[in-house]
Amino acid sequence: MNTEDRVQWIYSSQNNQELIERYSIWAKDYDQDLTDVFVYVSPQKAVEAFLKYVSQDAKILDAGAGTGLVGQLLHQQGYHNLEAMDMSQGMLEEAGKKKVYTALHQGILGEPLDFSADYFDATVSIGVFTPGHAPSSAFDELIRITKPGGYIIFSMRPDFYENSDFSEKQSALAKSGQWELVEIGEKFQCLPKGEPEIELQIWVYQVVR
Ligand SMILES: C[S@@+](CC[C@H](N)C(=O)[O-])C[C@H]1O[C@@H](n2cnc3c(N)ncnc32)[C@H](O)[C@@H]1O
Repeated sequence: MNTEDRVQWIYSSQNNQELIERYSIWAKDYDQDLTDVFVYVSPQKAVEAFLKYVSQDAKILDAGAGTGLVGQLLHQQGYHNLEAMDMSQGMLEEAGKKKVYTALHQGILGEPLDFSADYFDATVSIGVFTPGHAPSSAFDELIRITKPGGYIIFSMRPDFYENSDFSEKQSALAKSGQWELVEIGEKFQCLPKGEPEIELQIWVYQVVR
């Protein structure tokens, strides 16, 4: 299967179980497909937001860490207190090989997470709030486990934001005083070589509850 077909195959998953299995199969080729074939830009954009808002000693959860491409770049920029969480054990195993995370956790965004309240200074989810992946309800748990004053940083497709329940959920959380919007980044092509039509923005919220 070529890389474009593989992405379609991932996005045609019907449920979490199928998504977990497909990511676990893709895990070993994921880095090469995304970096060599697609020229994956999103981790770099996420790190730019971190450098603006989050100090290097922050305790960070990479939620939907995949193979750890975001953690690897954060680590290179001096963020060493990093934990990874993903629902796919196969992806987490690849993340572990990068030796940039202090802990690896299997967990599902959208379900209760096995962390105490206010445990992290920041959480990051790149390529995770996207069709058929983590639901908008996952923000409740990310807010719970992030300290007041901490940051939640994630990528989002503008078209998906408008045509899903994410806009409503994100506004409701702001209205109820759970978080405040800090920044919506410029649109960028996340896979300029392979899928140039896909645009993303990096969103930054600060937890205020
Ligand atoms: C496109 S990959 C992105 C991985 C990594 N953040 C990156 O930027 O390379 C999406 C990842 O999110 C994970 N994922 C999807 N839905 C999830 C959920 N509900 N809970 C936890 N992980 C999820 C997948 O297993 C996969 O590893």
